[in-house]
Amino acid sequence: MSVTKVLCVLGTRPEAIKIAPVIHALNLEPKSFQTRVLATAQHRRMLDQMLAVFSISPDTDLDLMRPGQELAELTGRVLAGMTEYLSAHRFDLVLAQGDTTTAMVTALACFYARIPFGHIEAGLRTGDLSAPYPEEFNRRVIALATKYHFAPTASAADNLLKERILPELIFITGNTVIDALFYILHGTESPPHPIPEGREYVLMTCHRREIFGDRIREVFATVRDYFSRHREIFLWYPVHPNPEVAGPAYEILSGLSNIILTEPLDYIAFSHAMNGARLLLSDSGGVQEEAPALGKPVLVLRDVTERPEGVAAGTCLLVGPHRDRIEAGLNRLLFDPREYERMARARNPYGDGKAAGRIVAALKGEPFEPWRG
Ligand code: UD1
Ligand code: UDP
Repeated sequence: MSVTKVLCVLGTRPEAIKIAPVIHALNLEPKSFQTRVLATAQHRRMLDQMLAVFSISPDTDLDLMRPGQELAELTGRVLAGMTEYLSAHRFDLVLAQGDTTTAMVTALACFYARIPFGHIEAGLRTGDLSAPYPEEFNRRVIALATKYHFAPTASAADNLLKERILPELIFITGNTVIDALFYILHGTESPPHPIPEGREYVLMTCHRREIFGDRIREVFATVRDYFSRHREIFLWYPVHPNPEVAGPAYEILSGLSNIILTEPLDYIAFSHAMNGARLLLSDSGGVQEEAPALGKPVLVLRDVTERPEGVAAGTCLLVGPHRDRIEAGLNRLLFDPREYERMARARNPYGDGKAAGRIVAALKGEPFEPWRG
């Protein structure tokens, strides 16, 4: 049997977290796969944080991040770097995860180079090209250039079928983020953290491009006003380093003793921080998948989501970037115990921790039980 030469590409924090289980699973099968890792380093510091947690050393690092990078120039840099690399090396298959510029451009470079591309976390859709922006566009482009579609859930697979993708090329695997989350929570202790012992806290993430400007400022102003009225509850926000986020975040949220702004956390610290939080206030994709597994309610700072399973499970509630809905959501979850209990039950619509094994089985052409969340 010949060995399949696989290139795993990653660029940002969530890609590293979600492709790490696949890299480890491929490395367990050296007779079937020769695995190489390429980092575009679309993110620098947040990527390195995650590579260290998962003990991954890329074979190649394009080191592409520039402060305050714009979408078009980043796209151009990734396409040039990937194209040059793919023309100098022979791979039978390239894998990438999600909907970032790195993932979209890698799929495009593979299409031009005529190399089969496998997409991890395929089939997520909001149906709205402006939300999330540019990720919904990226997903659709990726699907056109993908040979193997690894859909995390049945509804993601349905989205692909509606786009006339052949059923035999769609594999329902569960989301690899649950593999990563279980691996970290079962294998590590909570590091020290900045919330005083015994105090309740809300954990926040916020970084989506479509709300940059007035709307992100309004989210931060809402949070500041709310927590200045409720000094007994803490808000912990590891601030995303994008200057469009960090600038207004530090300007608007600094100076209150119960609002704790920190640097981005590595995945060990963040997983335990989620586990210890009362609830999450977040526009992250990954957090919407992790929180149901932990039984932590999420107020989702978005009007639409490509992850309807968490909403259907009752763990995620869409409040958008809107003052009235954010305040109402916080009031419900912080001061109405019955409402809190209704949302805070552990459920696993996104996986059982075995997604990477299913992806590797699919690549080997072996049968496996699809994930049925
Ligand atoms: C990107 C992805 C988004 C994903 C997010 C995860 C695109 C278009 N966007 O958005 O889908 O949800 O990552 O976090 O692919 N920066 C640093 N250090 C870092 C990382 C970022 O300083 O380690 C700053 C830099 O100034 C950089 C900026 O953040 O230019 C933006 O990074 P970029 O990857 O372009 O966009 P994100 O908003 O992080
Ligand atoms: N995360 C982390 N540290 C942080 C914030 C988030 O490890 O300080 C993790 C989080 O658990 C999730 C992922 O990063 O797995 C989400 O990344 P992000 O919000 O950057 O991107 P998205 O999921 O929205 O694409």
